[in-house]
Amino acid sequence: MLGIIGGTGLTQLDNLTITKREIVRTPFGEPSHPLLFGEICGHEVIFLARHGGGHTILPHQVNYCANIYALHLLGVTEVAAVATVGGIHRDLSPGVIVIPHQIIDYTHGRKSTFYDGINQPVKHIDFTQPYCHYMRAKWELAALSIGEPIVSHGVYAATQGPRLETAAEIDRLERDGATIVGMTGMPEAALARELGMSYAAISPVVNYAAGRGGSVHQIDYEEMVVSLSRTMLRVHAIIAELVKRHYCNTASDR
Ligand code: HPA
Repeated sequence: MLGIIGGTGLTQLDNLTITKREIVRTPFGEPSHPLLFGEICGHEVIFLARHGGGHTILPHQVNYCANIYALHLLGVTEVAAVATVGGIHRDLSPGVIVIPHQIIDYTHGRKSTFYDGINQPVKHIDFTQPYCHYMRAKWELAALSIGEPIVSHGVYAATQGPRLETAAEIDRLERDGATIVGMTGMPEAALARELGMSYAAISPVVNYAAGRGGSVHQIDYEEMVVSLSRTMLRVHAIIAELVKRHYCNTASDR
């Protein structure tokens, strides 16, 4: 079963015909929102709004463990996540959509494992390739097949937030090799790996990162919001195609 996690600007799915809402309780607490069961082109998917229905949960306050565990409990084996970012690399301007292949974790104080020796025995997962190669390819094919250009690689710097970064912090992230920056990539990706779920993200760039491009002096929040709503229309279309192309069985859907 495919689970879709929507981030900023994606608290609901346009093409989703909702069939059921389920409040799921997990040993780690409640997820950000009731999980929505629905159908896209007749295929059942589960949708979860990472920041809650009213977008009230800050990135460092998201209960990532409950979110991922709830999806797992409901039978989700593949997770398609959407996580908006700022562009660090000069080519990654607002409107560009990136499929990250690597991640650097700068977050702190977030519960980042199920295997903490309390709930489960200690375990060290392999995380050399943090995103599922096959899921990334699915995202890419879906985007390209509807004519949406995609940047198929990117190094995602996961920062703590909720404030945006300083220009010097972005310089540091760039020296570290990061090309995009967001606040929710971790521990979500690692938790999915711990439970053996395939996980990949698409990251729409909604602003130049601090000190870059049009954000040399400051990040304009209004522009960010405009860019977000424009880009999300395209993200909805990519998600619909992702489901249609990779999860619906009829030949005419391929
Ligand atoms: N920094 C961190 N997270 C973000 C940004 C940013 O510039 N844009 C969107 N999410």
